[in-house]
Amino acid sequence: MSTLPTIALLGGGQLGRMFIENALRYPVHVAVIDPDPEAPCSPIASEFRTGDLLDEHAIMEHARNADVIGIEIEHVSVPAMQQLKAMGKRVIPDPDVLRIIQDKGHQKRFYQDHGIPTSPFALVDSRDQLHAHVDLLPGFLKSRRGGYDGKGVMALRTEAEIAEAFEGPFVLEKQVEVDMELAVIVVRDDHGNQVTYDPVEMVFDPGLNLVDHLRAPARIPEHVALEARDLAMRVADAFDAPGVYAVELFLTRTGELLVNETAPRAHNSGHHTIEACASSQFDQLLRLYLGWPLGDTALRSHAAMINLVGEGGRGTPVIEGAEKVLAITATYPHLYGKKETRNGRKMGHVTVVASTHDALDRAIASVKAHCRVVPARPITTT
Ligand SMILES: Nc1ncnc2c1ncn2[C@@H]1O[C@H](COP(=O)(O)OP(=O)(O)O)[C@@H](O)[C@H]1O
Ligand SMILES: [Mg+2]
Repeated sequence: MSTLPTIALLGGGQLGRMFIENALRYPVHVAVIDPDPEAPCSPIASEFRTGDLLDEHAIMEHARNADVIGIEIEHVSVPAMQQLKAMGKRVIPDPDVLRIIQDKGHQKRFYQDHGIPTSPFALVDSRDQLHAHVDLLPGFLKSRRGGYDGKGVMALRTEAEIAEAFEGPFVLEKQVEVDMELAVIVVRDDHGNQVTYDPVEMVFDPGLNLVDHLRAPARIPEHVALEARDLAMRVADAFDAPGVYAVELFLTRTGELLVNETAPRAHNSGHHTIEACASSQFDQLLRLYLGWPLGDTALRSHAAMINLVGEGGRGTPVIEGAEKVLAITATYPHLYGKKETRNGRKMGHVTVVASTHDALDRAIASVKAHCRVVPARPITTT
C-alpha cells in the first residue's frame, strides 16, 4: 500500500487518463479499475486492475484501502459507494447524487422537484405505453439507464415511429426548439463555495448525436452567459454535495434556458480547460479530492475542442493528418491510446487556442479537413 494519499478511480477511460496526466504532477497514488485491461488509464495509473464497475464486491476490493473514491463514468455500483462512504472515506460524487443522475427519469424528476427548468417529459415503462403520450411528440426517447454519447437516445417524431423504438423504461421528452446547446461546469467544495467555467457552445454531429466540436466562450450575449452560470449553480446547489458538475443546457429559440442533463464528473465539454484555463476541470477534481482550495476558472483565451471520432470501420487506429494539425498555431492533440478504433468511438481530441472567433473558425475547419482516425487494416465495416 502506498503511503501517499490514494485515490481509487472507478473507470479507466479518457477522462481518467486526463485526470492522471495532471495528477502525476502531485504526490498522489491513483488506483484505477476498469473492465478493459487495455483501457486508456492502464499504462499510466499508479495501480490498475480489471473489474466490473457495477460489481459491488469488485469495487469494494479495489477501494477499501483508498482515501478517496472518484468516478469517471456514472455507471458504477452505488451500494459500494454507499459502503465506502459509511467507512468514512471521501466519496465524490456523493452516492445519493449518483443514484439520481444514473437514472435519467430520477434526474428529470429531481429538476422538476427543485424548480429547475427542463423540457416537459413523461416516464414510460414500455414501448406499448408510449401511445398514451403522443402529446409529447415530436420528442426524444431516452433509456432511463445506461446511455452515453447519444447511445440510448433517439428522436421520436411520429406515433408510427414507436414501432422502431428500443425497449423501455424510458424518459420521453418533448423536443425543444434548440437555438444552441451550452454546457457549464460548476465546481463545488465542501462548504458550498462554487466556481463556474465560461459557458461553452456544443456543436453536435447530427448523425452520431455526439459532440463534434465545442467552442469557448459560447457566442451568446453576456446576460445569457450569466444566466447560464446561475442556472448551473442552482443545479449544483440542489445536489448539495461537493463535486464537479457538468450541466448541459438548451438555449431555446425563444431565449429560454433549460437543463438537459448533468454529469457529476469531468466532461467532454471541459477538455479545453486543460490549455485555456489556469486550473483545468481535472485539476479542480484533484483539488476537491484532497480538500485543497478551488482553482481559477478564468478563460485565458478563446478555445475550441474538436473530437476525433473513429471512421472507416474497426481495427488498430491510425491518425491521419497529425502533421497538418501540428502545423496550425497553438493546437494540442490528445490521443487517448485506445487499442481499437470503431465508427463513432471517441479516439482523441484536438484543442485549439486563439485570440478571436475567426481564428478559431479557421483552425476548426483545418483540423476537420485534415485529421481522421481510421483503422490500419479494417477488420469489419462497423
Ligand atoms: N428534449 C430534447 N430536445 C431537443 N434535442 C434533444 C432533447 N433531448 C436530447 N436532445 C439531443 O440529443 C443529444 C443527446 O441527449 P442527452 O440526453 O444529452 O444524452 P447523452 O447521455 O447521450 O448525452 C442532446 O445533446 C441533444 O442534441
Ligand atoms: Mg448529453
